[in-house]
Amino acid sequence: MKKAIILGAQGQLGSDITNLFNQHNIQTITPTHTDLDITNLMALKHLLSAQRPDVLINTAAYHQVDLCEENPKTAMAINSTSPAFMARMCNYLKIKFVHFSTDYVFDGEKETPYNELDKPNPLNVYGKTKYHGENAILSENHAALILRVSALYGKHPCRAKNGLNFIELMLKLAKERPVLNVVDDEFVSPTATSNIANILPDLIKQELNGIVHLTSEGACSWHEFASTIFELTNTKVEVNKVDSSFFPAKTPRPKYTVLENTSLKNRGMASLPNWKDALQEYLKQQN
Ligand SMILES: NC(=O)c1ccc[n+]([C@@H]2O[C@H](COP(=O)([O-])OP(=O)(O)OC[C@H]3O[C@@H](n4cnc5c(N)ncnc54)[C@H](OP(=O)(O)O)[C@@H]3O)[C@@H](O)[C@H]2O)c1
Repeated sequence: MKKAIILGAQGQLGSDITNLFNQHNIQTITPTHTDLDITNLMALKHLLSAQRPDVLINTAAYHQVDLCEENPKTAMAINSTSPAFMARMCNYLKIKFVHFSTDYVFDGEKETPYNELDKPNPLNVYGKTKYHGENAILSENHAALILRVSALYGKHPCRAKNGLNFIELMLKLAKERPVLNVVDDEFVSPTATSNIANILPDLIKQELNGIVHLTSEGACSWHEFASTIFELTNTKVEVNKVDSSFFPAKTPRPKYTVLENTSLKNRGMASLPNWKDALQEYLKQQN
C-alpha cells in the first residue's frame, strides 16, 4: 500500500490512522469536511478517479445519536448512501475500501458478546443507518472491509462529542465534583483508536473483507471504566453506581454492546490488547 485517501481524517479515529500511515511512509490524502462533504457524490467520484489510491478509508460518519433521530435523511445520506457509493466506485476502480461501523447495530438484548454472525437489530436511527450502510456496501463491493468498533477514545477529541472523550471527561468532572454518578448497567469494550490504527495496515495487507469486529479484549460497565481510570491516575473521588434511567435519554440505546472479535481470532490474527492494558498505555502517553 503506497497511497491512501482517509475521510474524516480530522476526527478521533481518522487522525490516528493518518499519523500511523504517515509513519509507515504511506502517502495520505486527507480532505477535511470543508474540502469535501461526503454526500457530494460527484466530488467523491472526481477525487477517487483523479487520485486512484490503493485504499480508501472512510471514518466519516453522522454519529450524534440524538441528532440522527431528528435528521434521519442526513443520517442516511452520510452513513449509508455515500459509503455505498464509495464501495461502488472502489469496486470499479479496483481500490480497497475500508469502512467503519458500530456496535450500535445490535439491540443489546444478548448479554454475551456479539460475534459477526449475530443478527443486528438496531434500536435507533444512527444504528439503523449504519446497518443499512453495511448491507449497501457489501452489495456493491464484496472485497470491502467493514470494521465494527465500539466506545472509542483517542488523543484527538471525538469531533461529534464536543471535544472530550470519556476518560478526559471523567478526569475533568473529578476535579470539579467530590461525587460522580456513573452508569453501571451499560456494558462496552472501550477501544483506543491508536490500537485500531496500529493493526489496520496488517488487515489491509491480509486482504480481509466483509464484516469484522475490532475492539479491545474484555468488557466493562461505564462505572467500572470510570473507577479504573481513577484508580490508574490515583484520583480521589467517590463514584456512585447508577442505572441508565438516572440520565434520561431522548433516544433508545442498547445496554450491552460488547463485541467478540471472532473473525480475527478464527483467522489466527492478533487481537487488540485488553481494555485495561490499553487504558494504562493511553494514560501513560498523556503524561
Ligand atoms: N466514537 C465512538 O465511540 C464510536 C463508536 C462506535 C463506532 N464509531 C464509528 O467510528 C467512526 C469514527 O468515529 P470518530 O470517533 O473518529 O468520529 P469523529 O471524531 O466525530 O470524526 C468523524 C469525522 O467525520 C467528519 N464528517 C462528518 N460528516 C461528514 C461529511 N458529511 N463529509 C465529510 N466529513 C464528515 C467529521 O468532520 P467535522 O467534525 O468537521 O464535521 C469528523 O472529522 C465512525 O464511523 C463512527 O460511526 C465511533
